[in-house]
Amino acid sequence: MTGIVVLGSTNMDLVAYVPHAPKRGETVTGREFRTIPGGKGANQAVAAARAGGDVAMIGAVGSDEFGELLRHTLEASGVDTDLLRTAEGPSGTAHIVVDDEGGNSIVVIPGANGAVTALGPGDEALIATSDALLLQLELPLSAVLDGAEAARRHGVRTILTPAPAQPLPPELLAVTDLLVPNEHEAATLAGVADPHMAAEALLRQVPEVVITLGSAGSLYAARGSAPVTVPAPRVRAVDTTGAGDTFVGALAVALVEGRPVQQALSWASAAAALCVQRPGASTSMPYRSEIDDAS
Ligand code: RIB
Ligand code: NA
Repeated sequence: MTGIVVLGSTNMDLVAYVPHAPKRGETVTGREFRTIPGGKGANQAVAAARAGGDVAMIGAVGSDEFGELLRHTLEASGVDTDLLRTAEGPSGTAHIVVDDEGGNSIVVIPGANGAVTALGPGDEALIATSDALLLQLELPLSAVLDGAEAARRHGVRTILTPAPAQPLPPELLAVTDLLVPNEHEAATLAGVADPHMAAEALLRQVPEVVITLGSAGSLYAARGSAPVTVPAPRVRAVDTTGAGDTFVGALAVALVEGRPVQQALSWASAAAALCVQRPGASTSMPYRSEIDDAS
């Protein structure tokens, strides 16, 4: 019995730490360069496993050195990688600039992730035994839809992070149980900037929504009940990369454990707050005991 399955991307993050991100035509001298395992799918898997979940990852790494490292990183955090394929060619990479306020800009080159166009042998059987399937948008949409439909067939809860922001086909939203956009993604999907109004609009397409609001916490809305805002701990951010993924990974664990939503949200916020205080994506994700201590 696997509690949580993640169908998603693996990227090697190539991170430049700079005073400010360069504008077009500008050259900026940075302070430091780091190579850190990331990718929204792998990040959510690591976050959920460290938060105490029983986690398996479906997706692909490349046949290069990065691929081996990415696989190893998942395994080191206890993620089952039996169904993580190795695709011929380069691994996904994310070219990230992190500024002095901890904010980032990212270019993603999909690499091996682009080869995951549908579920492979064994994937549906694994999804069928799980309690929740976590999805993001760094794999081809055809695979995301394939996974979500498989989960729906088996009554498995689907949790979709609609990132990077893009319009979504109604078929995908139709098989989404919980949608977790940030403010920007929510605005893109709902066509309205105000989070409360965006949540209301999104509830016409999915039964439950959590909009992450960065340092302002998160907004939870479900059909037929009043929305609630859950605050986030106040911390000083050094690198927000992977904060959203940490939030979703921890949230999924808490929900699968059957904790009440508001409690699950504040626990997930505590996890994300720990993540932003340390550099990198997967490297900054907290373990369960740290989250417990901080919440
Ligand atoms: O969500 C953060 C992730 O997005 C990074 O780890 C990077 O790989 C990008 O895909
Ligand atoms: Na971080």
